[in-house]
Amino acid sequence: MLKKCLYPVAGYGTRFLPATKSMAKEMLPIVDKPLIQYAVKEAMDAGLFEQAFVTGRTKRSIEDHFDISYELENEIRGSSKEDKLAEIRHIRENCVFTYTRQKQMLGLGHAILTGEPMIGNEPFGVILADDLCITDGDPVMKQMADLYAEYQCSIVAIEEVPKEDTAKYGVIAGEAIRDDLYRISDMVEKPAPEDAPSNLAIIGRYILTPDIFDYIRNTPPGAGGEIQITDALLQQAKQGRVLAYRFQGRRFDCGSLHGFVEATNYCFEKFHKPDE
Ligand code: UTP
Repeated sequence: MLKKCLYPVAGYGTRFLPATKSMAKEMLPIVDKPLIQYAVKEAMDAGLFEQAFVTGRTKRSIEDHFDISYELENEIRGSSKEDKLAEIRHIRENCVFTYTRQKQMLGLGHAILTGEPMIGNEPFGVILADDLCITDGDPVMKQMADLYAEYQCSIVAIEEVPKEDTAKYGVIAGEAIRDDLYRISDMVEKPAPEDAPSNLAIIGRYILTPDIFDYIRNTPPGAGGEIQITDALLQQAKQGRVLAYRFQGRRFDCGSLHGFVEATNYCFEKFHKPDE
């Protein structure tokens, strides 16, 4: 039912300067794999095979990553290193890739609206690649796609954060439908701890129904002068049509230095042999 996944990757990544001065934050590797590859693999494992990127200047390496590199591939053909390209080849052979550029970085909501011509009039997933999610069972997007099949409305992934951290996130309030699922009644972008309606914070996984584009079009700039997806989602939530899902798994904020280092250590332990 869900076929497409949108990746807003146009942000400046200022927390990672100078590394991100001329390279995409999403190409930073967690051990030996760029963040964006983890993200596309997650979408693919959820059955989303059409990958749509909203890029910007300095992001061309993302397109190259999902394209063939004839010279390199000839060079390592038949060698023991070929295994290292198995996953990216599998992704390339099974997915369709489209790209458009966000010319001005006017916020995440604006980036998602910029992706409208690639998405059209159908529901879609959104992954922010710098939120790396590692699970033992189903990947987070697959968990959400299964919920979408049941509820057919927009869904945002949430996790509990320490109250003092609410100013880093969009924060929700809602009525519990079950242990891990809420119908959203309110949401605030980056509230101070004393103004936060809860400690349930939105992380970088969404499933959105296409009417979100009209809500974004009618959303004025909010916190930080940016067009916030949270503000558009709140309008949709007022119609009772947005769920918040407390996912199974672990999330690392790889847009921050601390989260990036933590993810690197965790993934090295989990996915690599100690002598590699
Ligand atoms: P962030 O808030 O993490 O911003 O954006 P950023 O620019 O990537 O990083 P910092 O804070 O400067 O270090 C959240 C997501 O929204 C995308 C970013 O690429 C990131 O995936 N985004 C944000 C856009 O695509 N366009 C925008 O105008 C803003």
